[in-house]
Amino acid sequence: MAGMRLFTGIALDDAVRRNVLREMKPFQKIGTPIRWTAAGNVHLTLKFIGEADDALAAQIGAALGKASPAAAPFRLRLAGFGKFPAGDELHVLWAGIGESPPLRALFAAIEDALAPLGIARDNRPFQPHVTLGRNKVRYNFKSLFSLLEQKSRLFLGEWLVSAFRLFSSRLTPGGPLYSVLKEIPLVQS
Ligand code: 2AM
Repeated sequence: MAGMRLFTGIALDDAVRRNVLREMKPFQKIGTPIRWTAAGNVHLTLKFIGEADDALAAQIGAALGKASPAAAPFRLRLAGFGKFPAGDELHVLWAGIGESPPLRALFAAIEDALAPLGIARDNRPFQPHVTLGRNKVRYNFKSLFSLLEQKSRLFLGEWLVSAFRLFSSRLTPGGPLYSVLKEIPLVQS
């Protein structure tokens, strides 16, 4: 297979996913140019890896197993809608992830496991979020911003994270298609 885009991420548990999809509806009803994430694609991105060929993908899959002992299963809380960037523009609309030291430790362990393969560490700080929509055009988002303000702390769910995944992403005109290449269970070391 030719090159593919890879990233690591965490799936939402089903009850939390359903709740987020339900709570997104009022935002979707406002009618803006936002392109909403397909229901099946809602996830939390950990490390974005980028293009890799089959050989590198296999090495990445093997290396990620080493990241797993760094984090035993941990609870994650999803709360509040928000956006990037601050100000009048909207590029990404997201659901927020509560501050989580085990999540940060897992992200760091993934970067440590991948660095020997030449995968650079991120320069920007890890800002965990669940992307629900994206926008590239200029638009007056006044009504949507006021709803965001109201829902900036809304509790969306909590679940036990017991694995993370290596995903491949194929970009298509209908949006990205994600496949799970490997699921890496979190184990108590
Ligand atoms: P995000 O949704 O949290 O922004 C798969 O493409 C995932 O990797 C996306 O959901 C996106 O995470 C992230 N991603 C895509 N392109 C990226 C890039 N160039 N740099 C960092 N993360 C990226």
